[in-house]
Amino acid sequence: MSVPFFTARQVYAAVSPERAVEAVREAFIAYARGEWTMPPKVYVPAYPAGDFRAMPALGGGHALLKWVTSFPGNPAQGLPTVSGLVLLSDASNGSLRAVLDAGAVTALRTGAAAVLAAETLGRSDAGPAAVIGAGVNGRAAARTFLALGREVLLWDVDAERAREAAAELGATVAPSREEALDTDVVVTVTPGREVVFGPGSLRPGQHVSLMGADGPGKAEIAVEELARVRVFCDDWEQASHNGDLVHAVEAGVLERFQVTELGHVLTGEAPGRTSDDEITVFDSTGLAIQDLAVALAALERVDSLDGLQQLEA
Ligand SMILES: NC(=O)c1ccc[n+]([C@@H]2O[C@H](COP(=O)([O-])OP(=O)(O)OC[C@H]3O[C@@H](n4cnc5c(N)ncnc54)[C@H](O)[C@@H]3O)[C@@H](O)[C@H]2O)c1
Repeated sequence: MSVPFFTARQVYAAVSPERAVEAVREAFIAYARGEWTMPPKVYVPAYPAGDFRAMPALGGGHALLKWVTSFPGNPAQGLPTVSGLVLLSDASNGSLRAVLDAGAVTALRTGAAAVLAAETLGRSDAGPAAVIGAGVNGRAAARTFLALGREVLLWDVDAERAREAAAELGATVAPSREEALDTDVVVTVTPGREVVFGPGSLRPGQHVSLMGADGPGKAEIAVEELARVRVFCDDWEQASHNGDLVHAVEAGVLERFQVTELGHVLTGEAPGRTSDDEITVFDSTGLAIQDLAVALAALERVDSLDGLQQLEA
């Protein structure tokens, strides 16, 4: 049996940012309705260098396993922070249907989730979005906003990275960190080593999609700030054990009933933003159902891509 292998370039050729947003929206809805399922993500720590994650999901007649890394020091050695493979199988007979580059699948679905949350929870009259952290996944978020027609300001501690990313994407470098953090819609995609939003820093009406703190010990927002905003997440089970929310849960300032899953807003079961002055925060730890959505969208295009390598399985 031969199985197609999608390189990163072929994943991007198969799935546009717009298609990724649509696919990820459908996945959040299917998961909220219990139609798609997702056993907990397994972290395999290899600290201080980084960690590995094994992420399974089932839905759309397929099963997926993503084996992926987060090694934050890698870019200094010319290696990506996030890399690995996605295996997509037929759920009726277990046959392997596709193997895909995990870095590209991750970037597409992370950009899609950041933007989907921002477009769902941000003010309807929001202006340009700011993306903080212009690495692989920050660029993906910026690319997705731009594809949907929203202007983007980029800011990175490494000014050269922000300039390069802005030139590559057709975005604008933010004049300052302060101006970037003051926009109506902000997406943070930093390594989560230091807090981006300290106590009292968010202003009424802002929305923030926190994407960077997706594992143990990371945070992009202070516990005090989480305690005074409306909090949304991708999946309570996962987000309350890793990333930003865990610190607030452990401090006893955030409980399950105070946090809304994005999927329940998208199905209409739960309210999203309820006033122009509300501050909304979406915490993402990254779900395997998002990967499944993008892998299935890539598989839809299998016959129209040139040069796909076939693996003998
Ligand atoms: N939530 C999710 O679904 C998800 C998905 C993928 C990656 N991530 C996480 O996102 C983070 C970034 O991943 P990546 O692949 O883009 O990494 P990357 O190394 O390619 O990029 C990180 C960027 O952040 C910049 N940066 C560092 N500290 C900063 C700060 N305080 N303010 C502004 N910029 C800062 C760096 O200069 C770099 O350009 C990682 O922690 C990764 O684990 C989360």
